[in-house]
Amino acid sequence: MTHAEESLSKLSVEEKASLTSGASFWYTKPVERVGIPAIMLTDGPHGVRKQREGGDHLGLADSVPATCFPPAVALGSTWDSELVTRVGVALGEEAKAEGVGVLLGPGINIKRSPLGGRNFEYLSEDPHISGVLGAALVNGLQSQGVGSSLKHFAANNQETDRLRVSADVDERPLREIYLRGFQRVVTEAKPWTVMCSYNKINGVYASEDPWLLTDVLRGEWGFDGLVVSDWGAVNNRVAGLAAGLDLEMPASGGVTDAQIVAAVADGSLDPAVLDTAARRALELVDKAVAGADANASYDQDAHHALAREAAGRAIVLLKNDDGTLPLAASAKVAVIGEFARTPRYQGAGSSLINPTKLDNALDEIRAIGADVTFAPGYALDGADATGLLAEAVAAAAAADVALVFLGLPGGDESEGFDRTHIELPAGQTELLAAVVAANPRTVVVLSNGSVVRLSGWADSVPAIVEGWLLGQAGGGAVADVLFGAVNPSGRLAETIPVRLADTPSFLDFPGENSHVRYGEGLFVGYRYYDARTMDVGYPFGHGLSYTSFGYAGLEVAATEAGVGVSVDVTNTGARAGREVVQVYVGLPGSAVVRAPRELRAFANVALEAGETKRVVLDIPRDELAYYNVPVAGWTVECGDYLVEVGASSRDIRQHASVAVDGDTLLVPLDGNSTLAEWLSHPVGGQVLGGAFAAAQSSGEGGEMMALLSDPELMKMVGSMPLGRIASFPGSPLTPDVLEQLVAAGNP
Ligand code: BGC
Repeated sequence: MTHAEESLSKLSVEEKASLTSGASFWYTKPVERVGIPAIMLTDGPHGVRKQREGGDHLGLADSVPATCFPPAVALGSTWDSELVTRVGVALGEEAKAEGVGVLLGPGINIKRSPLGGRNFEYLSEDPHISGVLGAALVNGLQSQGVGSSLKHFAANNQETDRLRVSADVDERPLREIYLRGFQRVVTEAKPWTVMCSYNKINGVYASEDPWLLTDVLRGEWGFDGLVVSDWGAVNNRVAGLAAGLDLEMPASGGVTDAQIVAAVADGSLDPAVLDTAARRALELVDKAVAGADANASYDQDAHHALAREAAGRAIVLLKNDDGTLPLAASAKVAVIGEFARTPRYQGAGSSLINPTKLDNALDEIRAIGADVTFAPGYALDGADATGLLAEAVAAAAAADVALVFLGLPGGDESEGFDRTHIELPAGQTELLAAVVAANPRTVVVLSNGSVVRLSGWADSVPAIVEGWLLGQAGGGAVADVLFGAVNPSGRLAETIPVRLADTPSFLDFPGENSHVRYGEGLFVGYRYYDARTMDVGYPFGHGLSYTSFGYAGLEVAATEAGVGVSVDVTNTGARAGREVVQVYVGLPGSAVVRAPRELRAFANVALEAGETKRVVLDIPRDELAYYNVPVAGWTVECGDYLVEVGASSRDIRQHASVAVDGDTLLVPLDGNSTLAEWLSHPVGGQVLGGAFAAAQSSGEGGEMMALLSDPELMKMVGSMPLGRIASFPGSPLTPDVLEQLVAAGNP
């Protein structure tokens, strides 16, 4: 008997029910009689947001200082699981030092639209990156004896109406895009908890969906941890418990515990269901107790340094004509833009961290020794635009280079609501135009948690640095990249579109009447732009370096385990740098709908100047599979897969084709299956062919055999269900024969 089972055996029904909801905003309930302590769960995800005693009733204000690491938008752009694991370890150390048992993160929902209000809290538009980096963070965090809460499960891709909206999504995109990252993190990193989301999926609340919380999460993926509700996500507590929602947060004041007790008493809830949920709660407490250390502490300076390193690796150099960057330390620069002095470094809502310190780019650039003139250019409250603009233009005109810090006002991006546009403030783009007119050697540095439109001004400047929201040490990281202490290696984990109207979900976001239809299906992000061969602002995977990389010698081989890929990557420039080698796979001529290319592997490779490394990547066979709805499972289709290796989804350097054997599939056959489906079925084809041949030899099935041997005719009748053919006059397929065929065709 485990310790949790032993504890469970001592509890009354009321005590068990008490373990299924919180005591307060952040604590579970203790059962002092048998020595079960309360544990603390707290946000998350890019820092420890531990509220001080006596905080507000929304659980938002006043938290203890903690390192504000780069939010997920930035971590996603690192494409580096080793680095993200280290951030996870540091988060674990801080959580442990604060007595936190579970940190509420990472959030790995797919960025379905650039308008998503919480995009800054999510990693990517792609499930492979979301899953790989999400698993890395969970592994790091949990290595410290602190649990993670993988959130928000699932299809929580917008803020509009988030507590009620139904994400109406077909099963293939649900499985292949929206659940896929969760599947990877659950199976590879075993998070202690999974947080179910507020929304409904296809009409059913995630918090009471037995298919989601039990059949898929536990049955298919083997999850054995605890499911916790998002804060306030419970609709019907008893239904939720039965569906697999173990712990309701925050507190319900005992109301829902009493509902559970009553349901057990009147026989409408199986007591075994309550036992299971209570046991999971006890197991979580045991893990947290085992991981706790009353003497734990952490090194604030070391964590600040790690936050700077991670931020530096997250910055994406979008454009750098004529080697404008990096700048010489002696450069005479005009630093323009209030964000250089007053950084935007994280988004608003439940993830808001109270940082241990805060760097700004202006001070950090000065610290390098550059000759700096600063002009705020705009005020965050929009005041005094003309005077500020004139001052900025004068500073730009007198400098060698203008560094213009632009970005989204804090009020534009937050949990709780979505954006309605992707524009920078007009005052900022007007400022930029005036600065460029005064000094064309202008570098734009952006601060934004979700993408902004760059078309319209991007062509007017030689260099653009996408700085996302970089956490408390972002100012230093920006200076590191601008002056070359760090060679940029961040890559876009989401496409920057030319304009909002080009985005795949444009006509279906955020829905109406509490329903949002995921009409773009599988075609999310680059999958859509590539399928439609559309122009984009900057493609998925893009990011420049101060050096250059060459690719050669691609080898691709299919094995039973999947597809092995190896390629030589050479640093062909004059300084050390990192390349993110990206492997995309497609299957031209597939029998099912597919994107032209999908990211299936990547590697982050450090290379000295002139160095070559052979990069080896494995694509496990199940990564090639699509979700086969009729058979309710994953299927690898037979065919010649196209493997493309490159530096972005639009910068493919090498490609090769590889033949992969498909899974043998026995799709159930019946009278409603078409002639073509019967004939392509490994068993049904034999059975039906045999029946036709037998009929022909008995002198009855001549036309049928003729039909089978006439490809033109087959094109026309292949789509007919066999039962319909059976009903034709004179058909040898009598109802009896059909019944025999169905029996024989489904061995
Ligand atoms: C958010 C979660 C967060 C929770 C606790 C909710 O509103 O959706 O991400 O962990 O609050 O603050």
